[in-house]
Amino acid sequence: MKKFLVIGNPIGHSLSPRLHNFWIKNYNIDAVYEKMKLEDDEISSFIKKIKQEKIGGINVTIPFKKAVIPFLDKLSLEANKTKSVNTIVFKDDNLIGYNTDISGFTKAIKKLKFEMKGKKIFILGAGGVVPSIIYSLYEMKVSKIIISNRTRAKAEDLKKIFNQIQVIDWLNLPEFDVIINATSLGLKNEKIKLDFSNIGNEKLFYDIIYNPGETNFLKQGKSSGNLVENGKMMFLYQAADAFKLWHGIEPAITNTTLELINND
Ligand code: ATR
Repeated sequence: MKKFLVIGNPIGHSLSPRLHNFWIKNYNIDAVYEKMKLEDDEISSFIKKIKQEKIGGINVTIPFKKAVIPFLDKLSLEANKTKSVNTIVFKDDNLIGYNTDISGFTKAIKKLKFEMKGKKIFILGAGGVVPSIIYSLYEMKVSKIIISNRTRAKAEDLKKIFNQIQVIDWLNLPEFDVIINATSLGLKNEKIKLDFSNIGNEKLFYDIIYNPGETNFLKQGKSSGNLVENGKMMFLYQAADAFKLWHGIEPAITNTTLELINND
């Protein structure tokens, strides 16, 4: 039986095991998917163990998406550009880092049938998933990306990878067509102190958070008459794309799959 894992810290609430084990069973694959909490100084020895113990593959979540890179043999083009790996494949004695957060976000937007081309995007946050979102948005040919993060230096850092982005101070509100919450604000019912009362009603409010399914941020978008979407489909698509890389099967996303990751 092949073993697959998601590593992160914290990891307790990860829904990846539930989802992957459901697909593993559905497609009669001889495998198991578990979660593992790691500390920063354990990454190096853990990655080396993958080769010895012949672990089939790893999902990487916050805060290790960048930290795993020095220990891998190869990177996909997207993982290299974003310096972010969420899926590791162990193949022919090589550890290869991929980024399926990018394709996950792209597919979620496609499903929404929202035209990103030429749009002005405002991103809140500069954490682990933001480089992937920026990469996807530029592929979709958006006209402008503005980033605002509580710790401004972290947003400025992103300019090293994406020199076209603009950075503004936290809690400033620029003109935008699409606003994306990529902070952790909302996981515990927090509010983001921005006043959306004069922004009109033709915008997209997108939250990376999917549990809770409707954050205060999305409630604000909805009550001002705008289109809102949470991160559920992005989560499902990134998982499906990782599954395809490991098992060669594109798993179906059905109502049962959606229910699996509904709020407990
Ligand atoms: P990491 O920052 O370790 O990559 P993350 O979950 O990917 O972790 O990112 C958390 C994001 O939420 C960051 O943008 C963080 O802002 P800082 O860079 O200033 O830490 C943001 N965030 C978390 N708590 C916040 C708060 N109370 N107010 C504003 N932003 C917050």
